Parts: sequence; structure tokens; C-alpha cells
Amino acid sequence: MQEVNETTTGAQGTRGREKFATALGVVLATLGSAVGLGNIWKFPSVTGTNGGAAFILVYLACTLLLGLPVMISEQLLGRESRADTITTFRKLAGKTPWWIIGLMGFASAFLIMAFYTEVAGWIFAYIPRAFSGDILTTDPAVTTRAFNDLVTNPVSSLVVQWIVLAVVGFIIFRGVQKGIENTARVLLPILFLLLIVVDIRSLTLPGAGKGVAFLLRPDFSQLTWAGVLNAMGLSFFKLSVGMGAMITYGSYFRDDQNIPATASRVMLADLLVSILAGLAIFPAAFAFGIQPDAGPSLLFITIPTIFASMPMGRVFFILFSLLAAIAPIGAMLSLIETAVAALDGGTKLGRNKSLLITLAGLAAVGSLAALSNSLLADARLFGMTFFDLFDFITSNILLPVGGLLLCLFVAWYWGFDRTRDSLTNGGTIRNETLVRGFFFMVRFVSPVLILIVLLNGLGLLS
Ligand code: TRP
Repeated sequence: MQEVNETTTGAQGTRGREKFATALGVVLATLGSAVGLGNIWKFPSVTGTNGGAAFILVYLACTLLLGLPVMISEQLLGRESRADTITTFRKLAGKTPWWIIGLMGFASAFLIMAFYTEVAGWIFAYIPRAFSGDILTTDPAVTTRAFNDLVTNPVSSLVVQWIVLAVVGFIIFRGVQKGIENTARVLLPILFLLLIVVDIRSLTLPGAGKGVAFLLRPDFSQLTWAGVLNAMGLSFFKLSVGMGAMITYGSYFRDDQNIPATASRVMLADLLVSILAGLAIFPAAFAFGIQPDAGPSLLFITIPTIFASMPMGRVFFILFSLLAAIAPIGAMLSLIETAVAALDGGTKLGRNKSLLITLAGLAAVGSLAALSNSLLADARLFGMTFFDLFDFITSNILLPVGGLLLCLFVAWYWGFDRTRDSLTNGGTIRNETLVRGFFFMVRFVSPVLILIVLLNGLGLLS
């Protein structure tokens, strides 16, 4: 039975706004948003192309100094307003133009989902092939051909994307608690378990040590400003911040949720998933002398050859494919939910119609990314296909700019008193050092750093 008061929030309203059920559920749903293709597709591929451990260190610094403060900021704002990304700024800042942050976030949700659902679709398509074993070969020419056949076929490119949209659309239809929270509760433990099993396999291969060294021994000679921009972009993308997904989730948080503790736990657990994913891939790659610097195709072209090389590779490839398919689901839920909530909150459509319109919009924008390797392969802007462009623009521009504006909003518009009040749940959590430290971060440190990395990374300062 559907509770009547739950999913219908109506225009602008917070009456009966659905919330996550438990404090643990909040952490899991938020972690479900953070964990995704970022950990198993982006993190390994950019770490591989940027020289390993040195990149990871910069990524860590970005996560602590930029990603985490923005995550806390977003959750504070969302819980305060109990509204979607756009309405939040209307409520907290009246007629000022700050709501543009929300609008930018709404656009980012579509651009991210466009390529994200396509990659998730490829992963889904690999599952039956993992079971049949037909792409499990040590010959990279064969895995390259299999991947190219999949992505250059316009029909299958669209169909796999629609399947992904249907799956996540259905979960969103079930609502915040029954859909998002329960899905995270079930999928995250399975994901951890599968990762650990695959890690044990990878780490016990002879020669695995070289891969571990690659992840742990920094070589700064490989690092460039473009690499630092990538690290910053990844830290925002990873924590799902900079576009209001965490405002939206924050609006479903409980009043007594300890936000700094929640955000820190999510950050740490997400980091753990990335490291576990790295340990699943790099030691095995080095054990078989395979270079892990392939970039985005690492997951689809290089990894099958790695599994094909190891004893019992078929079983472990199946497990790996399943975990890769599970990981992005919670992330996509948060992206769709952000758009649906914004549409629902800003119009009189109601939640279900907002969902259908969002799905249709995602299929439309998504087709630009889906067809980037076939019909639209020659449609390029700044030398990039739509797929690459959406990826680059969101991670490396929109999310950092959104994060920068969010910091400025909290520190310079919302102000110290309201931040302290919200951060301490109205004074029930006492921690003056944390409050001052956080406020100093979002007032000076994070915005300045974001600006420096952004300008340098885009080559605007040299
Ligand atoms: N964090 C997810 C990942 O790593 C992606 C994601 C989900 C996201 N929601 C987001 C990125 C909101 C930016 C903004 O795969």
C-alpha cells in the first residue's frame, strides 16, 4: 500500500514531503548516490592515465578541501529549505538571482545522465556476455572489436540506454523510502561483498605487488594542471556535489541528522570503494603485464583481457560485471530524483508526470551521447563528441562552478549564524571548532582553490 501523504509534495510545498526513514538509511542513500561509475569507470581510468598514486593524492586533497565542504553545504541548505534545488534558493534567498545555481544543477543532471546511462547500458549489455564467456579472451583485438560493435550500432546504443532509464525510472516511481532508500540498503552490501571477493583474487595473483605500488607510490613528474583539474572534477563528480543532488537528498534528511558526520562517513566509504576498485583492477593488470592507462575504454576493452588471463577468470568476470552494473544504480537515482523533484517543486505537474517528462527528456538528451560513436560521430564541438563534451563540461566546469557558487552562497549570503544553527542542529550538537573551521573553509579556502584549479586547468592563466 502506498501511503497517501507521502509522494505528493505539490508546487513549492513541503507538506508531507517524504523523508528517508532512518539515520542509517540517510547514510546509505547518500552513499548510494556517491558510489557509481565514478569509482569503477572514472577513478581507475583517470588514475591510470595520470600516473597513479600522485594523482590519487591530489584527488584526496580535492575531496577533503573542496568536495566535502560543498557536500555539507548542500545538505545543510536542502534540509533547511526542505525543497528541491531551484525552490531552495527561492526560499532561502527570495528574489535574488542565486536560484540560477539550481537551474544550472537541473541542466547538469540531464547532461550527466546523458552519458552516464549510456555507460551503464554498455555494462548491462556485458552481463549476458560475461555469462556466455564470448568476450573473455586475452586477445585485445577481439575485446576491442566486441566493444566497437556494441557502441557503433545506433540501435543497440539507444536500446541499452532505454533499458537503464526504465530500471531507474521504476525505482524512482516507488518513492524516496521504498525506492531510493531500500534499493541502497540492498545493493550496497552486495557491492562491497563482490568487490572484496574480486580484490582477493586480484591481490593473490603472482606479480600483483607492482599494481599496488602503482596505486601507492607517487610519481609527481606525470602530474599537470589539466590532471589537477581532472582530480578536482572527479572529486565533485564522485561525491555527487556541485549541482544540487545533495540539496535534494538533504531535503529528505531527518531533522536530527548529524550532517557533518554523515557527509564525512559517506566520503570515507566512497573512498574505500574507489580504492577497492583500484585494487581489483591494477594488481591484476600488472600481474599480466597489461598497461592500465587505456582511459575510458579500460573497463570494456582492457578488463576482460585481464580476467581472461587469470585462473577461474570466467567466474570472477561475472562477479565483476555484476558489481559494475550494481554500482551506478544509486547514482542514477540521485540524478533523476534531482530533476524530478525540481520539476515537481516548480510546477503543478505532480510527481508522476514530472518523472515521465524527465525520463522523456533524458532519452532525448541521452540519445546525443548514445549516438556519439555512430550516427553523431562527426558532430563535434571543441573537437569533442557530445558524449565527451557532456562529460568534460559537467565534471570540469559546471560542477566546480556550481560548487564555488554554493560556497559563496553559504558563506557570504546565508551567513555565519544560520550556518552555525544548521550545522549544530539548532545547538544540540556542540562543536565550535568544527563550525568555525567549516565556515572558514567555505568562505575563503574552497572558493579560492576551486578558482585557481579551474583557471589553470582550462589554460586560462598561462
Ligand atoms: N557520484 C556518482 C559517481 O561517482 C555520480 C553522480 C551521481 C553525480 N549523482 C551526481 C555526479 C550528481 C555529479 C552530481 O558515479
